[in-house]
Amino acid sequence: MKTFANIFLGLFIFEAIVAAPTIDTLIYGSETYDVALEDLDNLYDYNENLPVDQAEIEIGTVLPSVTREIHSLPPLTEEAEEEASTPKLIDGSSPHGSGLLGPQTHDGLPTCLLCTCLGTTVYCDDHELDAVPPLPKKTTHFYSRYNRIKKINKNDFANQNNLKRIDLTSNFISEIDEDAFRELPQLQELVLRDNKIQQLPELPPTLTFIDVSDNRLGRKGIKEEAFKDMVDLHHLYITDNNLDHIPLPLPESLQALHLQNNNIQEMHEDTFCKMKDVAYARRALEDIRLDGNPINLSKTPSAYMCLPRLPIGSLI
Ligand SMILES: *[C@@H]1O[C@H](CO)[C@@H](O)[C@H](O)[C@H]1NC(C)=O
Repeated sequence: MKTFANIFLGLFIFEAIVAAPTIDTLIYGSETYDVALEDLDNLYDYNENLPVDQAEIEIGTVLPSVTREIHSLPPLTEEAEEEASTPKLIDGSSPHGSGLLGPQTHDGLPTCLLCTCLGTTVYCDDHELDAVPPLPKKTTHFYSRYNRIKKINKNDFANQNNLKRIDLTSNFISEIDEDAFRELPQLQELVLRDNKIQQLPELPPTLTFIDVSDNRLGRKGIKEEAFKDMVDLHHLYITDNNLDHIPLPLPESLQALHLQNNNIQEMHEDTFCKMKDVAYARRALEDIRLDGNPINLSKTPSAYMCLPRLPIGSLI
C-alpha cells in the first residue's frame, strides 16, 4: 500500500512539473512588450503602412461573387439582408431613395459602380477621386485612400448615422469644414494620415482611434482640450506634424500616444501624472513615443511615475 502511495505521489509531482510554465515565457522584457503592442494594433485591423495593392488584392478575391449578385438578385429587402450571411451589396433601395448601386456621384455614376461596396463597407481606394462620393445610407466603413481629395465639406458625410470608420489616408486634403465629422453619432475610427491638414475640425466624442499623422497641424492645428471628452479613445497618432506641444488633457482610456518627429520641446510634471496625488496611476497608457522631438526627457524625472512604462525618446 505504501509503495502504491509513493508511486501515486511521484506521478503527481511529475505532472505538476510538466504542467508548470517555463520561466522564460513569464519574463516580459521591453522587446516582447513591443511585440505585444504590435499585435494589439493588428487586432484592431490597422496597418500604419498598408500598401494600396495589398488592399486591392483583398477586395479582388471577394469581388466575383458580388458581381454575380448584381446580375442575379432583385433589390434586397431589409429581412433578406438580415438573414443572409454572405457579403453582398448595400441595399440602397430604402425609402431614402438611391438604387441598388448606391446614390449617384456627380459624374452620374452610382457610387457602388465607381467604387466597390461589400456588405456595408465602401472601398474607393486609388480611384483618382477629387471629392468624397455620396455614400449609401447603411455604410459603416468607408475607405478612400490614395485619391486626390482636397477638401472635406460639411455635407460629405451628412446623415451618415451608421458610419464607424473613415479612412482618407494619402489624399491632398488641406481643408475640412468644421461640421464635417461632428454629427456622426457612431464614428469610432478616423484616419486622415498623409494629407495637408492645417486645422482639425471638431471631432465626435465617440472616437476610439485617431490617426492624423503626417499633416501640417503645427502650433495651432489642434483645438484646446480637443480629446478631453473622448472617454473611449485608445489610440492617438499625431506623428510628423511640426506640433510644438502635447495635446492635453489626455483621456484615461488612452493606450497609445504617438508623437514622434514633431517640435515638442518641453513637458511639465502633470502632463501624464498628478503631482498632488502620488497614488494616481495611468495604467492604460503603455505606449508613448516622443522620439524625434527636441526634448530632453531626463529633465522631468517625476513626470513618468504614474505610467506603466517610460516614454520612448531621448534621455540624455
Ligand atoms: C538633459 O537633462 C539632464 C537633467 O537635467 C542634464 O543632466 C543633461 O545634461 C541634459 N542633456 C542635454 C543634452 O541637454
